[in-house]
Amino acid sequence: MIVGSTKEDLTQEKRVSLTPETAKNIIGLGLKIFIEKNYASHLGIQDNEYKKVGVEIKNSSNEILSLCNLLIKVNCPLEKEIESLKEKTHLVGMLNPSKNKNQIKEIINKNVNIFSLELLPRITRAQSMDVLSSQSNLAGYRAVIDCVSEFEKAVPMMMTAAGTVPAAKVLVIGAGVAGLQAIATAKRLGAIVSATDVRAASKEQVESLGGKFLIVEESEDMETTGGYAKETSDNYKKKQAEMMREALKKNDIVICTALIPGKPAPRILTEDLVKLMKPGSIVYDLAAEQGGNSAFSEAGKINLVNGIKIIGVKSLMNRLPLTASSLYAKNLFSFIRNLYSKEKKDFNVNLEDEIISKTLIKEI
Ligand code: NAI
Repeated sequence: MIVGSTKEDLTQEKRVSLTPETAKNIIGLGLKIFIEKNYASHLGIQDNEYKKVGVEIKNSSNEILSLCNLLIKVNCPLEKEIESLKEKTHLVGMLNPSKNKNQIKEIINKNVNIFSLELLPRITRAQSMDVLSSQSNLAGYRAVIDCVSEFEKAVPMMMTAAGTVPAAKVLVIGAGVAGLQAIATAKRLGAIVSATDVRAASKEQVESLGGKFLIVEESEDMETTGGYAKETSDNYKKKQAEMMREALKKNDIVICTALIPGKPAPRILTEDLVKLMKPGSIVYDLAAEQGGNSAFSEAGKINLVNGIKIIGVKSLMNRLPLTASSLYAKNLFSFIRNLYSKEKKDFNVNLEDEIISKTLIKEI
């Protein structure tokens, strides 16, 4: 059985789905691996490092696509790749089915078993495969680093002979995976950190990281039984805006990470609220690609309003592609280990396994 991986569209994506470390582990399962020449050279990983662990390097992507029994990718394959893809093979990646409907349809028509890792159930057994968590964790960290480099003041409190520099104040909206990592990173850099979330359960997590939890007073808990957020009521939105009004005047950096699975990003910071911030402040919107938590945010742009920088994030993982690839490749290896049957020496699409049945896209 051959696992193949071709290069991503480098103008959009710098991550790779296979590192020498995970290649070695996949080969250890009894599989062969083919990759395209210069597969990860843009990340400083040369073909030789893959060769050393037993990977075969191919000159053309077509050869890989026509031979492999499992294609592993970061994003959905490109149109020209789909044409060359072998029938009845398998495909795993972060395929974003709602965005790539036409490509997915074409691939299904080739009787390919498509597994999209964003659809993984959040169960204990799938934790090591959870690409959304591994990538969001990095996003939370990188969000703080980007804000600090854009911020024109120092972050930690400093007592110097020339006077005292006050610590910067950071507010994190949404204390999920990215939010909690943002809180931890901002604390490490010496900021005074507060955070808010619609789920009451997140209070304890925020406080355990040294952040102050800002409660939306007299409001209902918006947590679903599955542990995710619900859409907020008009009453909640009103009370949240009242709480924000005071908080925004005091904070220097606001990091927005609020997300409701399967819905557009909740709009939390209206134009009026953003304008309450001091000139020189920063709003960093991680949800910009899903419509944004903040007014004035546009994916891939920094907009300046009344001296406030509103940073709309786009393709954030391209800013730390080596770490992102390393974690993504490990998630992928765990998925392959579960999919491959050593006894049958084949991929086993066992629909009784929740991990397989929930990630498999049967129709679109
Ligand atoms: P998550 O689901 O773990 O956390 C989102 C949090 O927002 C939850 O705790 C939820 O309760 C909270 N929330 C929902 N509605 C809210 C509201 N109205 N007010 C306050 N809190 C609210 O999501 P995760 O994985 O942390 O992702 C956060 C955001 O970062 C998402 O928009 C995601 O798409 C984005 N992201 C962007 C990346 C990029 O490269 N641009 C990479 C990774 C994540």
